[in-house]
Amino acid sequence: MDIASYLDRKREEVDRFLDTAVPSAQTAPATLHESMRYSLFAGGKRIRPILAMASAEAVGQPSKAILPIASSLELIHTYSLIHDDLPAMDNDDYRRGKLTNHKVYGEAMAILAGDALLTLAFDLCSRADLLDHLDPIRQVQIIHELALGAGNLGMVGGQVLDIQAENKDIDLATLQTIHAHKTGMLIRAAVRMGAIVSSATPAQLKQLTAYAEDVGLAFQIADDVLNVTGTREELGKNANTDAQRGKKTYPSFCGVEGARTLADQCANRAISRLDTFDAKADSLRELARYITSRRN
Ligand code: IPE
Ligand code: IPE
Ligand code: MG
Ligand code: MG
Repeated sequence: MDIASYLDRKREEVDRFLDTAVPSAQTAPATLHESMRYSLFAGGKRIRPILAMASAEAVGQPSKAILPIASSLELIHTYSLIHDDLPAMDNDDYRRGKLTNHKVYGEAMAILAGDALLTLAFDLCSRADLLDHLDPIRQVQIIHELALGAGNLGMVGGQVLDIQAENKDIDLATLQTIHAHKTGMLIRAAVRMGAIVSSATPAQLKQLTAYAEDVGLAFQIADDVLNVTGTREELGKNANTDAQRGKKTYPSFCGVEGARTLADQCANRAISRLDTFDAKADSLRELARYITSRRN
């Protein structure tokens, strides 16, 4: 399969849906909606929604409910980036090739745009009209996965561990725990939410969860490598910021080549978790490869 055209096609689907889900920049309160749309449509890769869609495809024929469910993950992810870039956190000036949200709209609006994106994600998952008669029990399970992936035991918890580890001499196991939460838990939620939309069996959900955990780690190791090897033009955000901030990363433990090898091993392990799946899981297999070979 051609993963590049798969990614393009799915990204366009998600973008079209998000455009209808978020009020226009003219809708009151106009500055809030403008600021939400500024970050949301700045050119993200949409990896989390695409993982959810590919996971649903791996299990069966996905229902129309997959698009709002998958898109909710991008709302949470974009909120996490807006807050992550704030002066009180990573204090970054560029994201997705543009000035960061607070640089354009000010800190108060950036905080509120993040809050609104987070809330809108749960609105999307609770909209019966958009969800193509999704079984209510599964709908509640999906909302639970989203909350778990995003919250105190998920991404937010990981962000806390990440900040607390700055300028500390942490070990590799601690770094892995940080990564598993700040990036891994939302990726895990994406894959599980997609699987639940397609009524995965408990055995399928278990395999897909193992896949997601390996892919999540591969994704963050690749992000650490790109932080060292990428340029601002390629990444759309400043490079080399981890070292400047005194953050321990995979390359600081095992060098850039060692980290690349580790990311490849995680991707291979992720793919091997899908052994019991047929060709419908090929997109997931290709996504694991793409995640470690990407340039941004
Ligand atoms: C960047 O995520 C931040 C991390 C969680 C490592 P992505 O690399 O998915 O960023 P976008 O969405 O494409 O901008
Ligand atoms: C961002 O992690 C992770 C989340 C927003 C949850 P980083 O701070 O390491 O990533 P970049 O370099 O800002 O994209
Ligand atoms: Mg950060
Ligand atoms: Mg950051």
